[in-house]
Amino acid sequence: MGRKGAVVAGHICLDIIPRIPGGNVQARLTPGTLIEIGPALLSTGGLVSNTGCSLHTLGIDTRLMGKVGDDPFGRIILDLIRAQDAALTQNMIVVPGEVSSYTIVLSPPDADRSFLHCPGANHTFGADDLDCATLRDARLFHFGYPPVMERMYLDDGAELETMFRCAREAGVITSLDMVMPDPQGPSGRVDWRSILQRTLPHVDIFLPSLDELLVLLRREMPVSPQAADALLSEMAAQMLEWGAGIVVLKLGARGLYLRIGERGIAALPDAGWRERELWAPCFVPEPLVGTTGAGDATIAGFLAGVLRGQSVEAALTSAVAVGACNVEAADALSGVRSWDATQARVAAGWARQAVTVGVPGWAWDAGHALWIGPHDAFLRKRV
Ligand SMILES: Nc1ncnc2c1ncn2[C@@H]1O[C@H](COP(=O)(O)OP(=O)(O)OP(=O)(O)O)[C@@H](O)[C@H]1O
Ligand SMILES: [Mg+2]
Repeated sequence: MGRKGAVVAGHICLDIIPRIPGGNVQARLTPGTLIEIGPALLSTGGLVSNTGCSLHTLGIDTRLMGKVGDDPFGRIILDLIRAQDAALTQNMIVVPGEVSSYTIVLSPPDADRSFLHCPGANHTFGADDLDCATLRDARLFHFGYPPVMERMYLDDGAELETMFRCAREAGVITSLDMVMPDPQGPSGRVDWRSILQRTLPHVDIFLPSLDELLVLLRREMPVSPQAADALLSEMAAQMLEWGAGIVVLKLGARGLYLRIGERGIAALPDAGWRERELWAPCFVPEPLVGTTGAGDATIAGFLAGVLRGQSVEAALTSAVAVGACNVEAADALSGVRSWDATQARVAAGWARQAVTVGVPGWAWDAGHALWIGPHDAFLRKRV
């Protein structure tokens, strides 16, 4: 029997989002006060739910491997996922005695959001939680958010490396997403340079956002878009040197950058998947509603393209298309459409946002509606 689908593992939590009628509730929340609020919306958060359920919507046979406790919040998390499809929860890890992770989201209509977050079982997720038999039946393993999973960054990332080594040995394509570490917290104090150096040799596809990568490596934030653009090739080259096969950097509303080295990855032997440097502008959302989970959805679009055998140009386009669908809804999931509906939107000439690359050496490929970078083998052949 052939391998099928994806396993998505890592951070998962329950988001509790009370409806707040108005006024800066955080400022009024002083000791001894009571503030009346509306009913709470409950939804799952974290990449296991966001990227995992988006992959499912895109028609990929997906199994989720998040870790929850045997407690009421854990049961709500499982119920919410089961409501999408019971098969998604088959490999969820339920540990008696552990606490399920939850976030209380204070999101007043007229002020910035604040979060009260309990990491719970995400902090105890380790390589031994991974179900290797399930991995051996899958084509792809995607893991995310080690900066908010304590065991993954303590001990200089030994657990993260072990887990990716195991996944690699199971013969799957391996993929890693990051999240912003808390600069004041323990994850902001560990040496991410050394953690990435030991982990990336086992990672086929590495997809952090540029901002996350700069914070993790303690680099100064660029002062302008041009300065940020100038960092892309350099940061990607570093990640390739440390061992990643494909580097995808999320750039928010400026789109998505991709770089592949000479080796590429074993699962994609085609010449189109080697020595590439591309940049996809965003599609224009109709309209822009909210960016919750945009990065996670964009990753799902890219991975779905890979699993469906698309070319690198098409997979990158699928990524930004799913990302733009995501921002058309307030939550992390309901904007994402089926694979066919997404591809049909692209084929129908969905407008893209104009983006100019602030560094020389890039050429616009009108056929694919992508920028081609100076490290791209195909561009070099053309000129
Ligand atoms: N305004 C927008 N219009 C269209 N697409 C967008 C917009 N903002 C973000 N996107 C899409 O979402 C992708 C990811 O955004 P971003 O770089 O913010 O990721 P992230 O930092 O991982 O976000 P998240 O907090 O969702 O994990 C972008 O590469 C783009 O494709
Ligand atoms: Mg993200």
